[in-house]
Amino acid sequence: MSQRAVVTGGAGFIGSHLVDRLLSLGWDVHVVDDLSNGHRHNVPEAAPLHEVDVADANALLVLAESIGPIDRWYHFAAQADVRVSVEDPAFDARVNVIGTINVLQAAHRDAATVLLASTGGAIYGDAPLPTTEAAPTRPPSPYGTAKLAAEHYLAQHARLHGVRHAAVRFANVYGPRQDPHGEGGVVAIFGGKALAGAQARVFGDGRQTRDFVYVGDVVEASIAASDAAAAGTDAELRADGDIPIYNVGTGVQTSVVDLWSAMERAVGRDLGIEFADARAGEIEHSALDASLARRVLGVAIDTSVDTGVVATLDWLGTQVEA
Ligand SMILES: NC(=O)c1ccc[n+]([C@@H]2O[C@H](COP(=O)([O-])OP(=O)(O)OC[C@H]3O[C@@H](n4cnc5c(N)ncnc54)[C@H](O)[C@@H]3O)[C@@H](O)[C@H]2O)c1
Repeated sequence: MSQRAVVTGGAGFIGSHLVDRLLSLGWDVHVVDDLSNGHRHNVPEAAPLHEVDVADANALLVLAESIGPIDRWYHFAAQADVRVSVEDPAFDARVNVIGTINVLQAAHRDAATVLLASTGGAIYGDAPLPTTEAAPTRPPSPYGTAKLAAEHYLAQHARLHGVRHAAVRFANVYGPRQDPHGEGGVVAIFGGKALAGAQARVFGDGRQTRDFVYVGDVVEASIAASDAAAAGTDAELRADGDIPIYNVGTGVQTSVVDLWSAMERAVGRDLGIEFADARAGEIEHSALDASLARRVLGVAIDTSVDTGVVATLDWLGTQVEA
């Protein structure tokens, strides 16, 4: 019998790619999503979609009861907009902290492994680059603070109940189905401009850098992290009662101007840039060192920005036509 996974946030950008991949690997997949930011059309028919708010503890428990035994939880549902978290930190914590606690409670019945989608840039703040998991965590936003708290809840739950969870800290994820509001949102915004033959609008001098990691690489790393936790092949990372936490990024800093150049190469035209005033509070540079994930999980995380941008533009093109 195939194993069963629940993907929270499976109607969203990254979660829906994870659902596709798990189905292709033969998993029985259920999606939990309140559709606050995700789309029904992102979810393949083979995966039942349950419209449930992860912050509603009772609804989640009732749902888990109705689904039956669950082997793995991939917790990808989140309020993932940093600006929303600054405006309404209590709402952010309700979804990102309480929601995670509720997932742990629901997973408890089956002693199932929970894999948390966490964040790199929003947790480390200004740390040395490329940033390793050993860097101090100084989240500059309520969103990063909530994700860090969620990681601690996973570790504490694992210690208390002797179960094996893990977390993956993503860099700026981009690819087909992304929307412009997430941490890698600039790729979707630029993509729209490039396809329209318009100029890019860049805030500041465009030399600020990000670590753009392709969604396919993020999905492979997430599945590998969950598999390693369930199989216990990550035991070396569980010393002192910690849970494994892996950075998932390329380690490459790509400037905003270089990202736009990749777009221009992909569409075969020089479109130019309009520069605007820098935005306050933005991190200047970020890049994640994913050596740990490469070594322990055997994942490559090596899709180049040029390759990933072409795939993203191909998809954006189909959206414009649709
Ligand atoms: N995109 C990035 O660059 C990035 C970077 C770091 C971490 N992450 C994390 O990865 C995960 C997926 O991010 P994404 O970019 O796919 O975002 P997304 O917004 O596309 O996906 C999140 C999904 O969660 C759902 N959701 C939100 N609140 C919910 C609730 N209360 N109950 C049930 N479902 C709810 C949304 O409808 C959406 O479908 C998130 O946990 C995010 O914090 C993303």
